[in-house]
Amino acid sequence: MGKKVNRLFSYIYYLTQMIRTYILFKGRFKKCGKKVFFGRLSMIRGGNYMEIGDNCLFGNNLRIEAITSWLGGAVFEPSIKIGDRVVINQNFHCTCAESIEIGDGTSITANCGVFDIIHPYEDVSKNPREAKIETKPIKIGKDCLIGMNSVIMPGTELGNHCVVGANSTVSGVFPDYCVIAGSPARIIKKYDFETNKWLKTYESISNRS
Ligand SMILES: CC(C)(COP(=O)(O)OP(=O)(O)OC[C@H]1O[C@@H](n2cnc3c(N)ncnc32)[C@H](O)[C@@H]1OP(=O)(O)O)[C@@H](O)C(=O)NCCC(=O)NCCS
Repeated sequence: MGKKVNRLFSYIYYLTQMIRTYILFKGRFKKCGKKVFFGRLSMIRGGNYMEIGDNCLFGNNLRIEAITSWLGGAVFEPSIKIGDRVVINQNFHCTCAESIEIGDGTSITANCGVFDIIHPYEDVSKNPREAKIETKPIKIGKDCLIGMNSVIMPGTELGNHCVVGANSTVSGVFPDYCVIAGSPARIIKKYDFETNKWLKTYESISNRS
C-alpha cells in the first residue's frame, strides 16, 4: 500500500513538473526535446538561441543567458546546445555570447558556472563590468561529470567521459577519459586502455594510504 501511494505521488509530481515545464519553458527555446524537466525559479534569457535534447533534467535556481548585445553596442550571435540525457543541478550559472555545447549524458552537479564571456579589466579607466566583453567558445564532451562548485572558464574543451573534481577552476583543452581537479585544474588521472585502469598522472605528495 505504502509503495503504491509513493509511486502515485511521484507520478503526480513528475506530471506536474512536466506540465509546468511545458507551460513556462517549452515554447521559449529554439528547440526543446521530449521529457525535459525544469525546477523552480529559473531565469532563462535568450531561449531562442538555445537547443535542448531529450530526457534532460534541470534543477532549481538556474540562470542561463544567451547574450545578443552588450554595453557600447556590441552584437553577438550566441548558441547554447545541450544534448540528450543531460542533468544540471541547482544554482547553475551559464552566460553565453558565442558558443557553449554540453554533450549527451553529461552531469553538472550543484553550484557550477559555465560561461564563454570574458570581462576585460586591463583598461583601468573602465569598470570591468562595462568594458566590451570578449568571448571564447566552450565544448563539454559526452558523459562528463562536473563536480560541485566548479567553474568552466571561457575557451575550455573537455573530451568525452571527463570527470572534474569538486571546487575546480577548469581552463584549457582536456582529452577523453581523464580526471581533472584543482584550482587551476590539472589532469590527475587518465584511463589506461591497456591495463583497464585509471592511473594517476603524478607522484603523490600526500600521506594518504
Ligand atoms: C576528483 C574525484 C573524482 C577524484 O576521485 P578519486 O579518483 O577517488 O580520487 P582520489 O581520492 O584517488 O584522489 C586522487 C588525488 O586527487 C586529489 N583530489 C581528489 N579530489 C580533488 C579535488 N576535488 N580537488 C583537488 N584535488 C583532489 C586527492 O587529494 C588525491 O591527491 P593525493 O594523490 O596527493 O593524495 C573526486 O575527488 C571528486 O572531487 N568528485 C566530485 C564529487 C562531487 O562533486 N560530486 C557531486 C555529488 S552530487
